[in-house]
This record gives sequence, structure tokens and C-alpha cells, in this order.
Amino acid sequence: MTGASTTRTFGPTGRRIAAIGQGSWKIEDAEADSAVAAMRRGLDLGLNHIDTAEMYGSGAAERIIAEAMVGRRDEVFLVSKVLPSNASKRGTLAACEKSLARLRTDRLDCYLLHWRGAYPLEETIGAFDRLVRDGKILSWGVSNFDVADLDEVAAIAGAGHPACNQVLYHLRERAIEHAVLPWCQRHGTAVVAYTPFGESNTPFDARTEQGMVLEEIAAAHGATARQVALRFLLRHPDVFVIPKASSIVHVAENAGAARVDLSAAELARIDAAFPRGRPRRGLPTI
Ligand SMILES: NC(=O)c1ccc[n+]([C@@H]2O[C@H](COP(=O)([O-])OP(=O)(O)OC[C@H]3O[C@@H](n4cnc5c(N)ncnc54)[C@H](OP(=O)(O)O)[C@@H]3O)[C@@H](O)[C@H]2O)c1
Repeated sequence: MTGASTTRTFGPTGRRIAAIGQGSWKIEDAEADSAVAAMRRGLDLGLNHIDTAEMYGSGAAERIIAEAMVGRRDEVFLVSKVLPSNASKRGTLAACEKSLARLRTDRLDCYLLHWRGAYPLEETIGAFDRLVRDGKILSWGVSNFDVADLDEVAAIAGAGHPACNQVLYHLRERAIEHAVLPWCQRHGTAVVAYTPFGESNTPFDARTEQGMVLEEIAAAHGATARQVALRFLLRHPDVFVIPKASSIVHVAENAGAARVDLSAAELARIDAAFPRGRPRRGLPTI
């Protein structure tokens, strides 16, 4: 994987998109100008997979993304998500219309069920199918789905579904490697790693043992610990990462991860420093 604009095929969609994308959870906490500028710089650097959700800032994140996409919609692989509480058939159709309006676009490239809720999957999937027929979404996927849920989706929707499963995946949370990732690999479903930097900065603190490992490997590549962390997650060819950055410096650093090529020995060293752990019951989420 070389070059900041390195692309991968996004599951069954056949679309080639950046392996490194851009998240948007809490993007509205930043100054709007800075968030928009960071996202546009990300697009300049080839980070064309933009992830959002109706939940983020109750629509505020989608509005910021609309601003960042002005004049550039066709460059973007745009993903949004319906809340489980809206995921009835009619609720999903209505939620999608509202997301499209906030995003100021006529289509989503992929639309996800944010996590599984009380509505039967048949209803949500029925709405997704209708939205595909109407050209309002080009594909659909799920998020936070464990293997049993994925099996149900495949039983209802058949081969080629879901397009992706967006899940928690970072150096200190590798649970998906036990069963979810293999399921997705078998079914041609893209795996999108959310919170790829994890929920604490400790792994990036060179005073810790784990941080030192990342720092030493990074130094050998003229890279940063965060770039090494992203590249470790991307060692599986079906995985995409969506780090969120609201500053130009951060987004440029994240894009630069595509230039870092880790050797098998370096991957093994990271694997040992951040062990996968045993299979546990339930899929970790945040
Ligand atoms: N499906 C789901 O249930 C779910 C759940 C959580 C997240 N997500 C999606 O996944 C995306 C990513 O996850 P996340 O936002 O939780 O966490 P993340 O991307 O792992 O981390 C975001 C944090 O890292 C900082 N950061 C980014 N690049 C950096 C860099 N190069 N150096 C130092 N700090 C850097 C950001 O700061 P700045 O903003 O200041 O740059 C922000 O504080 C979300 O934004 C969202 O789109 C989905």
C-alpha cells in the first residue's frame, strides 16, 4: 500500500475508495471553519470516504460535511447512518430524506443501520431496498453487528449484503479478528474500523512500553506512532479506517499513513505488544 490516495474495493459495491477515510463524530465541537478546511484538505489528500450519521450532533455533523463537499460531491464516497429508533420501514425512509437534505445531496453512497435495535431487520432492509431502487442510496450496510446478526442479514438479503460492517477496531480492541472479520472476509463485506486510535492516548505515549514499540517502528520509517497504528489495522485487505480529525495537521498526518509500509517483523512486534486477547462474548462497541 503506497501513496496517500491508495484505494481498495469497498465490499460488493465494486467502488474503489480510499482505505483511509474521515470520521465526523463530534466534528461540530471544533470551529466550523477549521472542521470544513480539515475535511477539504483530507479530500485533497485522497481521503474520499466520509463517514457520518444522523446521530452526530443531531444532524450538525451532516451540515458541516455538506459545507466541505461544496463543488466536490462526486469525489466523495458518502456514508450516513439511521438510528435504530428510526429504523422502521417508514422511519428509515424519512430519516434518509432528512440526512440527504442536511447533506445537500441527492444520494448516499452507503447507508448503515447504526446498531441493531427493536425493529425487525426485515423492515429496515425493506426500506434500504426501496431507497436503492429510488436511487437515494447506492448501497447499504450495518454497524456494530456481531456474527449472529450478520447471519440474519445474509439470510434476509442474500449474497452481496451487507456492503459493510462498521465496527470498533483499534490496537487495544482486536475482538473483531476472532469471528466478525473472518465472516466479512468470507462474504465479501467491507470492514470499516471506527475509533481506530482507541479511546485513550496511552498507546501513543512513548513513555509506556506499548508506546515505545510504536515509536521505534515509526522512527524507522520517518513516520508517527498514529500512522503505524493505522497501518497495522489496514494489514487486512478488507479493512478501511475512518479516523476523525478536525485539524489540517491531524488530517495530513492520517493521510500520510498510506505511505508507511510495515514489514512482517514489524507487524509481528506490534501484534505481540498489543495482543488480540481471547474471544469474548458479545461485540465491543462504544
Ligand atoms: N458506528 C459507530 O457506532 C461509531 C462509533 C464511533 C465512531 N464512529 C465513526 O468513526 C469515526 C472515528 O472514530 P472516533 O472519532 O471515535 O475516534 P478516532 O478517529 O480514533 O479519534 C478521534 C480523535 O483523535 C484525534 N486525532 C485525529 N487524528 C489525529 C492525529 N493525527 N494526531 C493526534 N490526534 C488525532 C482527533 O482530534 P481532532 O478532532 O482535534 O483532530 C479526535 O480527538 C467517528 O468520527 C465516526 O465517524 C462510528
